[in-house]
Amino acid sequence: MPAMKFARRMDEIGTETAFEVLAKARKLEAQGRNIVHLEIGEPDFPTPPNIVEAAERALRDGFTHYTPAGGLMPVRQAVADWIRRWYEVDVKPEQVVMVPGSKNVLLFTMLALVDRGDEVIVPDPGYPIYASVATLAGGTPIGIPLRERNEFRLDIEELKEKITQRTKLLVINSPQNPTGGVLSTRDLEQIAELAMKHDFYVLSDEVYGQITYDGHHASIMTVPGMLDRTIYSDGLSKAYAMCGWRLGFAVSPVPLAQKMETLMINSSSCAAAFTQMAAVEALSPRSDAAVQAMVAEFKRRRDVVVDRLNALPGVSCHKPLGAFYVFPNITKTGQNERELADRMLNEGGVALLAGTSFGAMGKGYLRLSYANAIDQIEEGVKRMKGVLEKTAARA
Ligand SMILES: Cc1ncc(COP(=O)(O)O)c(C=O)c1O
Repeated sequence: MPAMKFARRMDEIGTETAFEVLAKARKLEAQGRNIVHLEIGEPDFPTPPNIVEAAERALRDGFTHYTPAGGLMPVRQAVADWIRRWYEVDVKPEQVVMVPGSKNVLLFTMLALVDRGDEVIVPDPGYPIYASVATLAGGTPIGIPLRERNEFRLDIEELKEKITQRTKLLVINSPQNPTGGVLSTRDLEQIAELAMKHDFYVLSDEVYGQITYDGHHASIMTVPGMLDRTIYSDGLSKAYAMCGWRLGFAVSPVPLAQKMETLMINSSSCAAAFTQMAAVEALSPRSDAAVQAMVAEFKRRRDVVVDRLNALPGVSCHKPLGAFYVFPNITKTGQNERELADRMLNEGGVALLAGTSFGAMGKGYLRLSYANAIDQIEEGVKRMKGVLEKTAARA
């Protein structure tokens, strides 16, 4: 068959290495190898039963049809109520758009706001989809470094230097993937000041907003004046252990919400009706206890993984304040992060990611997801130790 001639944009589009490493790990498993999974950011918990029951009920009640592109109005209202309960800000249901996974909010925001030549400031290291979809939309991603010495928060002075006439959008993600870093209220206020001064929008990816360990999560949406220029992105995947349900939502000014509805009409038509109905249950106070229990367990795992990683030769690990990722520094091992990640999988049987999968600033780091059981985390780090000791013996 002659080689297919793909559109040029396919040369530029990025990917999420977690899915690639997961595929490699599954292949090894198919050959009989035992692999510890510390690569994919997916809670190992089952979805809380009250949410599953709500979905079953919705299916029986006939929520098996298309819904309006932006979502069912009572569901959009439930999101607005949850925003009120969680952040103490008032948004209208017309500002809410339900999407099949919050990843769509990232893509739709870029498609709706970014023109060719516009600059989009993205965290580095950061979730790789931001730069990928900014490029897909014709924009130019500009990395803002997140440094370990600054607890992986962006530096406001450095941000000022990145802002130009062409800056259309800044992407922030707190708590953050891959570092677990959390922006402070002061950071958010300073970012808001810059957004208003230089007239750019802020895409705030808060998909880990409920997963914080030492203090309540703050949203830039709550800073006075920011509701008009914030695109709030969230979803049910992480906090409610619902990755496979594919449900997320955007909260934005109404004109942008309408553009997102148009993009929904051009892509998925709508998010699945019965999963939308399940979201009403998920976002109700009836699910709070289940979320709190999962977060408490993530915190226990964080403490274990940080402790065990810090005991490894040449490894130091900063203690993150949110999400379920750690970003250990491996520079003192003298190893290249990509080669080491490959060896961890192939020789050690532990799947994890190179820090550079999240941008150039990830050099000298690995990323582990601790959304896995404690015994798996302990076994994974033990296997990492084996690989590192073998390396040291070879040197
Ligand atoms: C930072 C961040 N944003 C967005 C997503 C996408 O989540 P979903 O599409 O499942 O809502 C992920 C998933 O890993 C993520 O880590």
